[in-house]
Amino acid sequence: MAVRPYIVGNWKMHGTRSMLSEARAIDRAAERLIKVEVALAPPFTLIHATRKEAGLIGVGAQDCHAAEGGAHTGDISAAMLKDAGAGFVIVGHSERRADHGETDADVKAKAESALAVGLSVIVCVGETEEQRDAGKAESVVARQLKGSLPTADGAAEKVTVAYEPVWAIGTGRTPTTDDVSAMHRAIRKVLKDFYGEEAGAKVRILYGGSVKAENAAELLGADDVGGALVGGASLTAESFLGIIAVAA
Ligand code: G3H
Repeated sequence: MAVRPYIVGNWKMHGTRSMLSEARAIDRAAERLIKVEVALAPPFTLIHATRKEAGLIGVGAQDCHAAEGGAHTGDISAAMLKDAGAGFVIVGHSERRADHGETDADVKAKAESALAVGLSVIVCVGETEEQRDAGKAESVVARQLKGSLPTADGAAEKVTVAYEPVWAIGTGRTPTTDDVSAMHRAIRKVLKDFYGEEAGAKVRILYGGSVKAENAAELLGADDVGGALVGGASLTAESFLGIIAVAA
């Protein structure tokens, strides 16, 4: 397990102000769990309030537009996220890639835009079940990384990669520890090739996909897993803190 695991909750399209009590409870516990870096990515509408209510954990967003501003009805720029209190943004989540047709180039542009205003980024990659069955998981993820990772000066210091096999998201299914280890080793190799040996070695690689307290020890114990990106099990303080306790 990583020295100080990074456990990020992605609330996706869940949460109204009534859920701020969960963020407060997570924040209170995070104070005690100094061995774990904890963050939440609530929906846009709750970023500001979560930042105010939960002062100790990281708070971020689930997406941003690549442009600085302009005629993009319904979209949110990285600068707006920062102004609302976000410290990071998730880009390239498979649900964005699938639901909104986001390409690797789109993801890279979003990541660059976030870095330009001082946000950190979590770049998501992961193969579909068909791609894994065809033996293409590592090549697909390598291609996504090379196309999606930002290249601005110092980018590697602000980037976290989240490996999320699409077929494991919200399904209760998870890869074997060996499969997670193999993929994280492959991702590390790409990162070192891409950013250079030293910078590429420091980028954190999270695992995401049906992480819960019951399987967290096994998944976090796989090779080069620096933490977890958690969806469903981050929606209540009780279940999220169960994962954080395992990581501590
Ligand atoms: O961003 C989080 C991932 O998509 C994982 O979601 O924990 O509900 O499977 P999940």
